[in-house]
Amino acid sequence: MNILVLGAGGFIGSHMIEHLIRRREHDAVGLDVTDEKLRGISGRRFRFVRGDVRRDRATVDRLIQKADLVVDLIAYANPSMYVSSPLDVFELNFMQNLEIARLCMKHEKRLIQYSSAEVYGKAGNEDLCSEDTTNSTFGPVTKPRWIYATAKLLLERVLHAHGLAGDVEYTIVRPFNFLGRRIDYLVPAWAVAGPRVFPHFMSALLTGGPLRLVDGGRVHRAFLHIEDANAAFQTILDNLDATRNEIFNVGNPANNVTIREFARLMLDTFEDLSGHPSASPVVEISGEDFYGRGYEDGDRRPPDIGKMHALGWSPRYDLRTTLRETMAWYLEVYAKPAHLDEAAGVSGQAAIA
Ligand code: UGA
Repeated sequence: MNILVLGAGGFIGSHMIEHLIRRREHDAVGLDVTDEKLRGISGRRFRFVRGDVRRDRATVDRLIQKADLVVDLIAYANPSMYVSSPLDVFELNFMQNLEIARLCMKHEKRLIQYSSAEVYGKAGNEDLCSEDTTNSTFGPVTKPRWIYATAKLLLERVLHAHGLAGDVEYTIVRPFNFLGRRIDYLVPAWAVAGPRVFPHFMSALLTGGPLRLVDGGRVHRAFLHIEDANAAFQTILDNLDATRNEIFNVGNPANNVTIREFARLMLDTFEDLSGHPSASPVVEISGEDFYGRGYEDGDRRPPDIGKMHALGWSPRYDLRTTLRETMAWYLEVYAKPAHLDEAAGVSGQAAIA
């Protein structure tokens, strides 16, 4: 197959491309505004195209026409943006992705749409979150955090409706806190908001700055090794019939911890890997002070992975191993604090993840 990966330059995309190159089964074309995370990743059957889906419509149309299968990873997936730039989040995550879905319909191409675990909102407080039975619960409109989740959910609903009408063949993936090399970008010690929790804590450990627990670090997240995410993607590629017009959670319920526990694990792993205790203090900060007004969070959202399991996929990496491998890579690559400004500066412009 000729697989088009939109958003190939982001964290998930760059690992997906590495995976496709390693497997040597398919040709891959990756489009993104930046190839920073793809540096050093090359293969005879992979081609990178620099482009922005918001502007380079003709290029995107042509690439979709030539593809057999389209993977759409394009999103702002950065919680600080949900409160600081809610309209940009809506525009990219819903409007632009809808355009891509429409092009897939026009050219009759299979679409693998990456959505988000956020579509469960605050639903997972009691049980595992299941794709086809769990009710989603969101905070009020005055809490802009939920614009991301509802934009993603609306896109899922529109795809579902088009699927029922016979207009499109799709598979929706809901990623649950993937973790691995190249996730987001590192930040200077004083930075609040910004990327996801791992790069914040890793940056703190590299600089001796504080690990900040938002609202006491009481909420839970279930983290998944990026290699397990690649294996899930491969399982979907191998089961295109069984996954047609279906939604799949991709996550690891066994790796469900509070953010406070996650910080502790990172501190312990840092000590193990570096041979000395970290100088970083653990401090608390409110969600509004960290992200801005209108931030809210769900407490728990462990995934039910029964549907992926039925296809033969199971996650293999526990959280300790995932953190050990990921942190070892950061310690090697970013050992010098001078890299932090560079990393924050360059990747801060990488709008498409
Ligand atoms: C983000 C995106 O919003 C989701 O779309 C995406 O699916 C998800 O990442 C993911 O990686 O799958 P979230 O789970 O909130 O969602 O990811 P983080 O930004 O990593 O935050 C996790 C938790 O850590 C939140 O409770 C946050 O408040 C907390 N946090 C974050 C801290 O306590 N300290 C920090 O320095 C950063």
